[in-house]
Amino acid sequence: MSAPKKLFIKTYGCQMNVYDSERMAEALGGEGYVETKSPDDADMILLNTCHIREKAAEKVYSELGRFKGLKAEKPDLKIGVAGCVAQAEGQEIMRRQPLVDLVVGPQSYHRLPEMEAKAREGEKVLDTDFPEEDKFEKLKNRPKAKRGPTAFLTVQEGCDKFCAFCVVPYTRGAEVSRPADRILREAQDLVERGVREITLLGQNVNAYHGAGPNGDMTLAQLIWELDKVDGLERIRFTTSHPNDMQDDLIEAHGTCAKLMPYLHLPVQAGSDKILKRMNRAHTAESYLRLIERIRAARPDILISGDFIVGFPEETEADFQATLDLVEEVKYGTAYSFKYSTRPGTPAAERPQVDPKEADDRLQRLQALLTKQQREVQDSMVGRDVTVLFEKAGRFPGQMVGKSDYLHAVHVADCDRAIGDLARVRILSSGANSLAGALID
Ligand code: 5AD
Ligand code: SF4
Repeated sequence: MSAPKKLFIKTYGCQMNVYDSERMAEALGGEGYVETKSPDDADMILLNTCHIREKAAEKVYSELGRFKGLKAEKPDLKIGVAGCVAQAEGQEIMRRQPLVDLVVGPQSYHRLPEMEAKAREGEKVLDTDFPEEDKFEKLKNRPKAKRGPTAFLTVQEGCDKFCAFCVVPYTRGAEVSRPADRILREAQDLVERGVREITLLGQNVNAYHGAGPNGDMTLAQLIWELDKVDGLERIRFTTSHPNDMQDDLIEAHGTCAKLMPYLHLPVQAGSDKILKRMNRAHTAESYLRLIERIRAARPDILISGDFIVGFPEETEADFQATLDLVEEVKYGTAYSFKYSTRPGTPAAERPQVDPKEADDRLQRLQALLTKQQREVQDSMVGRDVTVLFEKAGRFPGQMVGKSDYLHAVHVADCDRAIGDLARVRILSSGANSLAGALID
């Protein structure tokens, strides 16, 4: 048998890309590829890219430039660009960087094996179609390799919301939900391979409406089906839009024991004027009332969010409204970004905020969010949480895992294995993690 070919994949951006990279590795696994951690010994390099902000897209070109020497040394090396930059820029990538052999958009990963074969024959190949078939179904024949205790599972892709700043509706296309039976089969398979926690993924995951046995299902109905899977202990989902937070999903947060008390619910801004210009179709007040209802269902839920500062025409008063909203919500964690102009999106045409002003606002927002994150993390001290152990710690006998609230927890003198769940009393709060002790 010939030696396996080596595949190096580098993943940028969101968790959907992490999931897609795993699927691509499996698809190419069928062609005799094994993954390598270093580009230096790879026969094929794939960059799974993100187009969400300008910086993310530019990184791809600088990374590609770095492979020039490698390609000169190894003419057989094939270089591919996948993901959202591939979708958005297509042919332009090969024009800007001739060392690229293959460009594949997020809806075409099941065609990778054929594309790879063509690239091996010296062809330049590009596929950024939105085919009708379910790429995940086609990617199914994967090895039954053992898995770690946590996994992502994409249930929905694309977005119909058209926020004025966002490229996702263009790069990932219209909202499409996978049928429930396929998701349940995949979940069952993951559990058989050692997975204890599944995070359901979608750009707009709570808009899920995949086909079920009796018509379309809501995300909450899908979660209740997953709740029945023996051996699956925890369910999470991300990312949600406030307008799709239906009653049954809010209720599930109070009644479904496997659904973890953590919710990523981006609001983006706190000023109604800006929210309107962002085409968010909700107000700051309606978001706050929603958070109240979610907390009524599950009082200890940890809320996470996304924010954009310096959106076109954002004034200091608008920004203050964002700070006020943050003060009111008290986020357990949050991601904040300076507005980045994305060609082709409606906001790109609007008067831009002075970048220095936007930088200053970002710093002020991040200071407040960091303070809140710290306070929420510190408030865990003295509490008992459940930890799912994911890996050994740096010290002998130490294990590291995640709490229900997704905080990293270090436990010393821990006789539990990776994949075990245990009750842990939190003893202290460090820079980015908690430390605790097994309760029994
Ligand atoms: N500029 C800055 N941030 C953006 N996001 C999406 N588009 C942009 C943009 N053009 C942020 C939003 C979104 C997260 C994934 O990225 O906050 O929720
Ligand atoms: Fe980036 Fe969005 Fe594409 Fe994810 S979906 S890779 S965040 S552009």
